[in-house]
Amino acid sequence: MKKLIIEGCKEISGTIKINGAKNSVVALIPASILTKGKCTITNVPDISDVRILLEMMKELGSEIVFENDTIIIDNKNVSNKPISEHYASKIRASYYFMGSLIGAYHKAEIAYPGGCVIGSRPIDYHIAAFKKMGVHIEEKDSQYTLNVDNLKGCEFYLDFPSVGATINIMLSSVLAEGKTIIENAAKEPEIANVATFLNSMGARVFGAGTSTITIEGVSKLSDGFVETIPDRIEAGTYLIIGALIGNNLKIENVIKEHLLALLCKLKEAGIEYQSTVNSITISKSEKIKAVNVKTSVFPGFPTDLGQPMSALLTQCEGESLFEETIYENRLRHVPHLNSMGANIKAFDNKAIIKGRTPLHGRKVKATDLRAGASMVVAGLIAEGTTEVYNIEHLLRGYERIVDKLSEVGVNIKLIDDEK
Ligand code: UD1
Repeated sequence: MKKLIIEGCKEISGTIKINGAKNSVVALIPASILTKGKCTITNVPDISDVRILLEMMKELGSEIVFENDTIIIDNKNVSNKPISEHYASKIRASYYFMGSLIGAYHKAEIAYPGGCVIGSRPIDYHIAAFKKMGVHIEEKDSQYTLNVDNLKGCEFYLDFPSVGATINIMLSSVLAEGKTIIENAAKEPEIANVATFLNSMGARVFGAGTSTITIEGVSKLSDGFVETIPDRIEAGTYLIIGALIGNNLKIENVIKEHLLALLCKLKEAGIEYQSTVNSITISKSEKIKAVNVKTSVFPGFPTDLGQPMSALLTQCEGESLFEETIYENRLRHVPHLNSMGANIKAFDNKAIIKGRTPLHGRKVKATDLRAGASMVVAGLIAEGTTEVYNIEHLLRGYERIVDKLSEVGVNIKLIDDEK
């Protein structure tokens, strides 16, 4: 089992370069299945979710070269094979193979997707949309089997603007007959990134990034190219760290417009930053004011930054109300923060956080990916040594986190107990 050992620290400075977005690239890789041509994806983070997806692609017959942040995928020898539980259950994004295999081969066999246990995370919208496109779906022994003769475009209204369902419907419809319209589509930047990739292959996707996406089916896709957008959640996590212990900490390779909800909240709390076209420089503030934070879909405050932000709220003067609105199980990190000295009362997906409370190094657990990020934030501001266990979750989303933090002055070590 891997753990992180973090020494609390007063100040860090230097530059942290942000990688490509996990939540984009985990859709871009399966999207490549839609073409037999060559696909180039740049700015790819080397994280475990990517490595797992590449293994899945190789199982299907893809030839892959991953060098210098760039993946070149050649799918000329790909054939449609079942995706076993061994792979599918390791990551949430395995569900994107449903959309791309059904689009390319009109058939998919895939085990239930995995991912962080942050709520019930159903995929009923994905399933309902596929059915509306004419797909027959059987669910047996934790596995879906999808089949369709005539894949037909349809109009689909999402009851909730789900990121996964929006992307999966795009993937399944680019090669379908006729037009598909997704209403109340999710507007997260990762969706526009996937649409750019599909369009580079010859797809006709319009309106990605707005709440109505129209896809006009085409008969074939060719070679594709895309640059993965910067990871706004990784950037946001380091901005939160900079707001607590930064001294002109520069966060580089960011798109500021993707981070506005967080930046507005930091400003409201009294934290200063300066931005350029692709970087934000942030410094700690002696006094941070309490602010209320409510997660919501883009452009609202991202649910994936809620947990790291709650660690910052423990250092605000006064009482902050934190509210999670997307998932029902995103406060499992609260007992761990409290064990370090925080004063947080959690109830009904809300948390009242009273600050400012000094934090002390303890042994804590990363209960999920972003909970792990919140433990790192807490460990950095705590007095003494914090040991974070179960960090396999964390490593799924943050490339070279130990190196990146060490380079700006943090004393942090990754220990592999099994070695
Ligand atoms: C994606 C991200 C995740 C992020 C989330 C919200 C990936 C791989 N993961 O997850 O990091 O936290 O977006 O920004 O990109 N829902 C249904 N039925 C469905 C689909 C979703 O009820 O068929 C509900 C979910 O339970 C949840 C909400 O909709 O309450 C949002 O889910 P969704 O946007 O689909 O998140 P994911 O794609 O799973």
